[in-house]
Amino acid sequence: MRDAALQAGGTVYASAAISSRAQHTLSAEAVSVAFGGVRALDGATLSLAPGRITGLVGPNGAGKSSLFNVLAGSLRPDRGTVRLAGADITCAPVHARAHAGIARTFQLARELDSLTVLENLLLAAPVQPGESLGRLLFARRSVRRAEEEAIERALSLLTRVRLTRLADEPAGVLSGGQKKLLELCRALMLEPEILLLDEPAAGVNPALIEELCQFILALRDEGGTFAIVEHNMDMVAALCDHVYVLAEGRVLTQGSFDVVTADTRVREAYLGALQ
Ligand SMILES: Nc1ncnc2c1ncn2[C@@H]1O[C@H](COP(=O)(O)OP(=O)(O)OP(=O)(O)O)[C@@H](O)[C@H]1O
Ligand SMILES: [Mg+2]
Repeated sequence: MRDAALQAGGTVYASAAISSRAQHTLSAEAVSVAFGGVRALDGATLSLAPGRITGLVGPNGAGKSSLFNVLAGSLRPDRGTVRLAGADITCAPVHARAHAGIARTFQLARELDSLTVLENLLLAAPVQPGESLGRLLFARRSVRRAEEEAIERALSLLTRVRLTRLADEPAGVLSGGQKKLLELCRALMLEPEILLLDEPAAGVNPALIEELCQFILALRDEGGTFAIVEHNMDMVAALCDHVYVLAEGRVLTQGSFDVVTADTRVREAYLGALQ
């Protein structure tokens, strides 16, 4: 059902709840994307092992965010294939992938400034697509229960990132780092199986980064699959089970953090990007 919904372009919604313990591999095979004359991705191949945290590092402009966009469905590759559990989802739209359990955060947080922090999270809560309007009208009790559960989940997420006291403040008053944390919570409202985090620690208070890491590790231990783009190498070392290094749209190397950071080609790629 999940695959049928994806391949049909998301017009059919899968009815099964997404299990955080499901084990599906999301992969990109030889994907290329060009923006005019700029090759953002040039045959990049990557696979996110289920239940693991995969790091994606590389110099500015290497194509990391573009690869996330391709995996999440907001950018259609010129060439190459995206697969979920072996099924070709290259043409599946963002909402169908979200429904299949793929969520992502953005490098620049995308909160709605005039809504409160809590409202931003409730807006991200999954709707029940199987419900008809008539059923909804006559099933207020179950709707209320769903709302209560969403509020409970939102508040518990805010507690994990220490934003509870700001729950009723407009999101516009949050600092850059707090907005990144809200962005993470918004993605988690979907109870995703696979979460793509684009620079989750950018601007976050160093004192909170350790806690953020513990939170992500706990979610991984509950069965979540993560891909993380991050320039904070301490965080990559602490979190990632496997690391891909991207340079000029291609995977330069992959392996454990220690192995890839010892690779002279990786150092050269970072230095080259500074010239
Ligand atoms: N929408 C776009 N239009 C034009 N060029 C783009 C677009 N998005 C990305 N690019 C270009 O594609 C290349 C890869 O960009 P991308 O944002 O994927 O890099 P990145 O690895 O995420 O970099 P950073 O670490 O700075 O976030 C860059 O040269 C960038 O300028
Ligand atoms: Mg980026």
